Amino acid sequence: MEQFALDAIERITTRPPEAHHTLSLDPLTPLIGAEVSGLDLSKELTDDQLGELRRAFLAHHVLVFRDQELSDADHKRLASHFGELHPVTLPAEGSDPYVLEISTTKDSRAVAGNGWHADGTADAEPSLGSMLYITHTPEPGSGGDTLFANMHLAYEMLSPHMKSLLDGLTAVHDGLLPWQGATPPEGYVAPRTEHPVVVRHPDTGRKLLFVNGAYTSHIVQLSRAESGALLAMLYDQIARTPFLNCRVRWTPNTLVFWDNRCVQHHATWDYYPHSRYGRRVAINGQRPLA
Ligand code: SIN
Repeated sequence: MEQFALDAIERITTRPPEAHHTLSLDPLTPLIGAEVSGLDLSKELTDDQLGELRRAFLAHHVLVFRDQELSDADHKRLASHFGELHPVTLPAEGSDPYVLEISTTKDSRAVAGNGWHADGTADAEPSLGSMLYITHTPEPGSGGDTLFANMHLAYEMLSPHMKSLLDGLTAVHDGLLPWQGATPPEGYVAPRTEHPVVVRHPDTGRKLLFVNGAYTSHIVQLSRAESGALLAMLYDQIARTPFLNCRVRWTPNTLVFWDNRCVQHHATWDYYPHSRYGRRVAINGQRPLA
């Protein structure tokens, strides 16, 4: 492994361990993701529990909670501790704009999120994070895992020369890109926003790579050919570097809370013709800044 990558890993793995008193943490990998136990998310959490959850979220980026019985009201209440709720569906009569159904059946011809992406980055203010609650996993056995990738590390493992090139660039994120070859829902007004290619996490100040294959159309300061080649190299690195990733294997009634500001995710559709069902609630974010 190259020294840039070793240095990036070492900075994380040598940080002092966190002490937790109100919950238990079991990291999925040393670099991204942790299972959290000892909390019943259907109950109101105490300030101490919420404080420890916030610290764990910033340290591990993806938190997994098993065996939770949650109503939509519980789900939204939990999310609202981390910020205002972010609308996830177009307004429709009788539907809750803050709860997105994630449903795959034998009749599905496409699955939301079946490719590396961060949510809604064509928006001027993409969401802070999402809480996905999967209640029904594919039968028999499993499948439908979700992969997550650490965008801090994806940036930090680059050479100093590549980092300084990327640091000065901006990219256009286009809400129509994910709909290529399909018809967007009626009333969808596609957002289009220019964001820095490298941004800082608003809570930790750490830099991260902020381009993704679903929404980023091109890098503004480069020729189309240069932009295409550079983005392809970055996406290839995300897909082909296992230490950037963790994999969540869902069991029924698992909730996963990920930091949309610094991770990308990929839903795996490996269970056709079986079904998978869940609900997702998101939290408002702010404009990503360099
Ligand atoms: C999504 O990308 O919103 C869905 C993730 C999943 O179903 O695992």
